[in-house]
Amino acid sequence: MINKSALVIILMVILLASCVNDHLNVTSSKCVNSNLALTISATTNVSSCGATDGSITVSATGGVESYSFSINGGVNQSTSTFSNLAAGSYTLSVKDANGCVATQTATVNNAQSTLNVMVSTTASTGCPTVNGTLTISASGGTAPYQYKINSQAYQSSNTFTGLSAGTYSVGVLDASNCPDFSSVAILLGSPSYSVDVQPILASACYSCHNGNQLPTLSTYSDVKANASTISTQVTTKAMPLVGSLTQQQIDLINCWVNGGAPNN
Ligand code: HEC
Repeated sequence: MINKSALVIILMVILLASCVNDHLNVTSSKCVNSNLALTISATTNVSSCGATDGSITVSATGGVESYSFSINGGVNQSTSTFSNLAAGSYTLSVKDANGCVATQTATVNNAQSTLNVMVSTTASTGCPTVNGTLTISASGGTAPYQYKINSQAYQSSNTFTGLSAGTYSVGVLDASNCPDFSSVAILLGSPSYSVDVQPILASACYSCHNGNQLPTLSTYSDVKANASTISTQVTTKAMPLVGSLTQQQIDLINCWVNGGAPNN
């Protein structure tokens, strides 16, 4: 038996849950086509290593006024300048009257330092595994350097692997303990035709589709022309007619086809 007060509590929980859901739905649907945007208008670097006199000023456009601003997910404020900042990489965001949010990253560095961080990246295909990479290098300051991404600890290796697409904060720390920061995006890429896809076709399909059986799949342009049929055939496991592909190979082919079947 459920008594009256238990029923009331259950009802309240259900009401509350639907209320939260409603609220979230309203917010997200209003924000789908929002043109709210945030710009970094100015940054002031710290005056010396370890100083906390940096600042960032942002400005917002679009959306529905009024705006409020926050830094690194902190409390929202109405003023658009953040001061007393240490050197670092920051995420700034603006929230408008509809609760829509736009973000930007900015870095505060040391005005005195010659230390300069540089980054190169390779895209993550995101399928079948997350595999973006990021390599940090540095010049100036005092070697040796240490490297980090986001809020991880500094390390001596400058290579970071297994990264998903997104924006990363990168930092280098020199021997006198002074940092320099930057931010970089890892793009969402496609698997490679020559490295990933072609070898699968060569081993599982060429025995039949190399001229004898139509469609011929020997060259990139053959494969590109039949990309969506190939995708259907391997997904439904109709092909290969003899043998089989692993799920990972099927995912990889689909991922490459969905990415526009590039000749990469
Ligand atoms: C043992 C031979 C053999 C192998 C191996 C093979 N196929 Fe086929 N494939 C066929 C035959 C026979 C047909 C035509 C009859 C059919 O659809 O069953 C065909 C048809 C196709 C078609 C055309 C389907 C359509 O509806 O137009 C595609 C695309 C295809 N294969 C892709 C592949 C791919 C990709 C692989 C490798 C993963 C592969 N095949 C491996 C024999 C093979």
